[in-house]
This record gives sequence, C-alpha cells and structure tokens, in this order.
Amino acid sequence: MLEGKKIILGITGSIAAYKAAFLLRLLIKEGAEVQVIITPAGKEFITPVTLSALSNRPVLGAFFENRDGTWHSHVDLGLWADAFVIAPATANTMGKMVTGICDNLLVTTYLSARCPVFIAPAMDLDMFQHPSTIQNIKTLQEWGCHVIEPGTGALASGLSGKGRMEEPEVIVEKLKTFFSDSIKKKTLTGKRVMVTAGPTYESIDPVRFIGNYSSGKMGFAIVEELAARGAQVDLIAGPVHVELSGSVLINRVDVKSARQMYEACCNSFPYCDAAIMAAAVSDYAPAGYHTSKIKRSGENLRIELVANPDIAKEMGQMKRDGQILAGFALETDNEEANAGKKLISKNLDFIVLNSLAQAGAGFMTDTNRITILNRENKKEEFALKSKRDVAVDIVDYLEKLMI
Ligand code: CTP
Repeated sequence: MLEGKKIILGITGSIAAYKAAFLLRLLIKEGAEVQVIITPAGKEFITPVTLSALSNRPVLGAFFENRDGTWHSHVDLGLWADAFVIAPATANTMGKMVTGICDNLLVTTYLSARCPVFIAPAMDLDMFQHPSTIQNIKTLQEWGCHVIEPGTGALASGLSGKGRMEEPEVIVEKLKTFFSDSIKKKTLTGKRVMVTAGPTYESIDPVRFIGNYSSGKMGFAIVEELAARGAQVDLIAGPVHVELSGSVLINRVDVKSARQMYEACCNSFPYCDAAIMAAAVSDYAPAGYHTSKIKRSGENLRIELVANPDIAKEMGQMKRDGQILAGFALETDNEEANAGKKLISKNLDFIVLNSLAQAGAGFMTDTNRITILNRENKKEEFALKSKRDVAVDIVDYLEKLMI
C-alpha cells in the first residue's frame, strides 16, 4: 500500500527510538523508500548502523558528514519526500519546530519540507502535560502537521497511553489511510454536506448535565470520508474527544445542547445538498437551569424535563426538492419496524440502523454493524466493520442518491 512512497523517517532522542527500527522495517515491508534522518541525541538511543542496514541507505545525521566539502541539502530532502514522519518526536524537537531553531538536519529539513508531516510524540507524562508541550502540539496541528498520539494501539498493548509513542503498526496504518484518502476520486467536489455528531449535554446546574455515551466516532468518520471525496462538510459536533485530520474542507461548529445543535443546523442545512444526522441528541432537557449548584437535601430530588426539538424531523420539514436527508436509528427492540417509522415520520431519504443488541456495534466501540433502510422499503445489510469502513459504505450510499 505504500509502494514507491518516499518517506523521511526523523528520529529524535527518546527511549522510544528503538521503536523507530520496527517502524522502519514495517515501512520497508509496505514497499516504501525510507531515508532516515537522526538527531545527535537520537544516536544515543539507537545506532545508525542498525538503521542503515534496515533502510538500505546511509543514515543522515549532520549537514557535513565527511568534512570533504560535500553536504546534505535539507531542501532537496524536503522536496524528495512524499511524507516526513518524525517518530519519536521529543518535546525538545517539537519546541524547535515551533520556534524555527534549525540547529540540526532534522529540524532544518522540517522547515523546508513541502510534503505532509506526521509527528509521533514520545516523552514522560509530566513533560507531555506541560503547557509548553500542549501549546507546541496545538501550534504544529494548526500548521497542518498530523500529530499521532497514542490511542487504541498503545491501549491495546496494555500500557497507559499519554506520552508514549504510538505503536509502529498504528503509525503505518495512519500513513496508509492518508495516502489512500489523497488518491480517492473527488466524486463529491462542489457538494456541501452537513453532519451532526456526538452527544448533547443538557445542563442542570453549573456542574451537572444530562448526556449519553455517544463518542462521536461514527459521525466523525463520515465527515472524514466526505471530505476525502472532495465534499465541503459542515460538522455540527456535540462535546466529544475526537480529533479531525485537519482537512480544509471541514468547517466544525462545536455545540453543547440540543437547542444549540438545532440552531447551528438551521443555519447550515439550507445551504447543503445533503445532511447526515449522526448525533445522539437528548430528547429532553431540564425545564429550568439552576444558576448555582444544587445542594444535597434529605429528600428525593425531582428534575422536570421538557422536550427538545427533534432536529432531524425539523430538517425533514425544511427539506427542499433535491436535498437528501439521512438519519440514524439506535434501537434495542423491534429494530427494523421502529427504524422504518422514524424514516417516514422524520421525512428521511434513508436511515442507518445500528443495533445495540449486536456485539461490536454501538456507542463505545470502534466497530459497527449497520443496516440501511430506504423509502422504498428496501434494506441493505452490512458486515461488522471498523467505523471508518462503515463510513465508506454510508457515503457510497449517499453518493449514489446525489449524483
Ligand atoms: N434526532 C435528532 N434530534 C432529536 C432526536 C433524534 O436530530 N432530538 C435524530 C438522530 O440524530 C437520529 C435520528 O433522529 O438521526 C433518530 O434518533 P433516535 O434517538 O434513534 O430516535 P428518536 O427520534 O429520539 O426516538 P426514540 O428515542 O424514541 O427511539
């Protein structure tokens, strides 16, 4: 999948540098050409001999390797590469990248690189949580760097995530996804699609709310897939902890409550060709908001709830000819019958049913198993897949109706 891709692997001075050898081997196995650049501190953790044997190329560590007048051009390197992957990236290197301190070949190459840059930070937890590191990571992301932080890979290996370098297998997967997205046919260029995602929080008092377990992962995967195909996406997101890849086609509006989500949708939907309502919206909100924290009293507490707008239904009423509206149904019983009813009552064009009864499907997982129902009462069932692949199926389905 990475056949012929030219990758610079930047290695800095962290104990995780040993993992870079595994990463390098995996990249080579996938067919990539890899040029290693190592910092002086990086050499303290792993020897260039190991790396040059694995990459079949000399490892670059300094501007002037031979003291014979020849030197390594950081500009040429930056132009040669299809991607620059810095793994592990120390707090020190990220700090230099942000401030432009070019005292080694690695940071200098970063400053002249025109290719996408991926960074896998590695450091101890205290350094990782320092405001300086947090700010530097944020800045690098704003500048378009893809920061790969430990997520499922590190957690799957049984060790706590934060500060550890992401596992080499996961880094390779991210690169493969990135390259496959970049060659995706831009079949939705010129289309604008609204997506709602995540839960909503309905405030009770300054410290409490009514919410749900929605992670937002399904909606965010749909957003990424739409953008990868060239669509402009209005993402209306409830409170979630999911990051976006940083596509310029995605316009993210963060909201908290169902009412705020409704208002954001009213502002966006009229300008869209389609909408996918993937948010888990709270159907009710507390009737009144307590401006100060509710104190414990001896007695039971009652909170009166009032109905929230049904956003999908409201969009169904606003829908113009030619606009496509899709919703989700999360059901525990009489799944298809209930989903079919929602499809009609909300005036949807299709509904994606995910069943909580299915293992691997639903809120807290990375996988999902869906059935799509349409207005002609036709249903299409899909196998258990990653949410990313489910997003591909959903966007395929939508695309057929739009083109
Ligand atoms: N939805 C919405 N606004 C709401 C409730 C739901 O936009 N206030 C949308 C969801 O995003 C989803 C679809 O409607 O696309 C169905 O959501 P679901 O919670 O399954 O259905 P409800 O209509 O809330 O019905 P119930 O909770 O009674 O099953």
